[in-house]
Amino acid sequence: MESTRKELIQLLNNVEGHISGQELSGQLGISRTAVWKHMNELKKDGYEIEAVQRKGYKILSSPDKISENTLRWGLDTKWIGHELHHYDQVESTQEIVHQLAKQGKPHGTVVIADEQVKGKGRMSRNWDSPKGKGIWMSVLLRPNLPPVQAPQITLLAATVLARMIAERSALAPQIKWPNDLLINHKKVSGILTEMQAEQDTIQYIVLGMGMNVNQEDREIPADIKYKASSLKIESRQHWNIQQTVQHILRLFEETYERFEAHGFSSIKKDWEHFGYKIGEEVTISTMKKTWQATLVGIEPDGALRAKSKDGEEEKLYSAEIHW
Ligand code: BTN
Repeated sequence: MESTRKELIQLLNNVEGHISGQELSGQLGISRTAVWKHMNELKKDGYEIEAVQRKGYKILSSPDKISENTLRWGLDTKWIGHELHHYDQVESTQEIVHQLAKQGKPHGTVVIADEQVKGKGRMSRNWDSPKGKGIWMSVLLRPNLPPVQAPQITLLAATVLARMIAERSALAPQIKWPNDLLINHKKVSGILTEMQAEQDTIQYIVLGMGMNVNQEDREIPADIKYKASSLKIESRQHWNIQQTVQHILRLFEETYERFEAHGFSSIKKDWEHFGYKIGEEVTISTMKKTWQATLVGIEPDGALRAKSKDGEEEKLYSAEIHW
C-alpha cells in the first residue's frame, strides 16, 4: 500500500503535465478504482491534485504540514529516513534519537518535529524552534570511525545543507567554520553533533540540524535579529518544508556514501566552496585566547587552518570565529 503510494507520487512528480488514470493503473499494476482511492488519500494528506477529464491527474502542490507519510512518500533513499518519526511537539529531537539509539534503532533513523520546546544549541545554548517554521531534525548515525573523526560528519552535514539551499534558490549560502550556515552574513541554520563513544570507536552519533525556514522578519527574536535570519526572509519566498527535508536527506545519503568510500578529502572541496571568510582576516577565540588571524582553509582532516599576523599557522580543532 505504502510503496504503491510512493510510486504513485514519483510518477506524478516525473511528468510535466497530466498523467492518465489508465497509464497510472498500468504502471502501478492496480485498478483504476484503486488509483482513484489513492488520489483521495493523497488529498486527505494535503496534496492538491487536479483531475481533468481525458487528460488525467497532476499534482498542483505538495502539503506544507509534514507527517510521517508525506515525508516518506517520494523519498527515494536507500537507508536514510526508512525509520522515520514525526512529532507535533517535542522537548528536543536530540533526546528522542538518543533513546532510539539505545533501543538499537538503525543507522539513518530520522526524528523530526514541528516544534521543539527545549531545542538545544551548541555550547549549552537554547535553540529557538517555533511551530511549523523550520526544520528541527536529528539523524542517528552509526559510523565505523574513530571518535576523532566525528567532527568531519558535522562539516559534511554543513556542506549538505549549503548545497540544498544553493540547488533550490538563487541564494549564496556560506559555512562559518565549523558548521553555522549563513546567508548574507546572518545565521539560518546550525548543527549539533552529539556522540556516544568508547575509547576508540563511535557507538553512535546524533546529528541535529536546525534550519530557520519560514519565519518572517518580525518572528526573529529582537536580540538576535542582527545575526539571525530565515530562508524565507532572505529569499522572499515561502519554502515547502516536506520537499526541503527530502532534498536534505537525499543529498545527505549521497554525500555520506562518498565520505565512506573516499574519506573526508572528498568533502573538503565542497566545504571550501561554501567556506565563509576564507582568505580573510577574522577574530578567533579558543578557551585560552582571542586573536586576529587569516582563515587559510581546512585541512584534509577537517581542522581549520589559520595564519596569524606574524605568519605563524595553526591547526584548530575547536574554536569560535566571530562575525
Ligand atoms: C547551533 O547551536 O548552531 C546548533 C543548533 C542545532 C539545533 C538542532 S534542531 C534539531 C536538533 N534538536 C535540538 O534540540 N537541537 C538540534
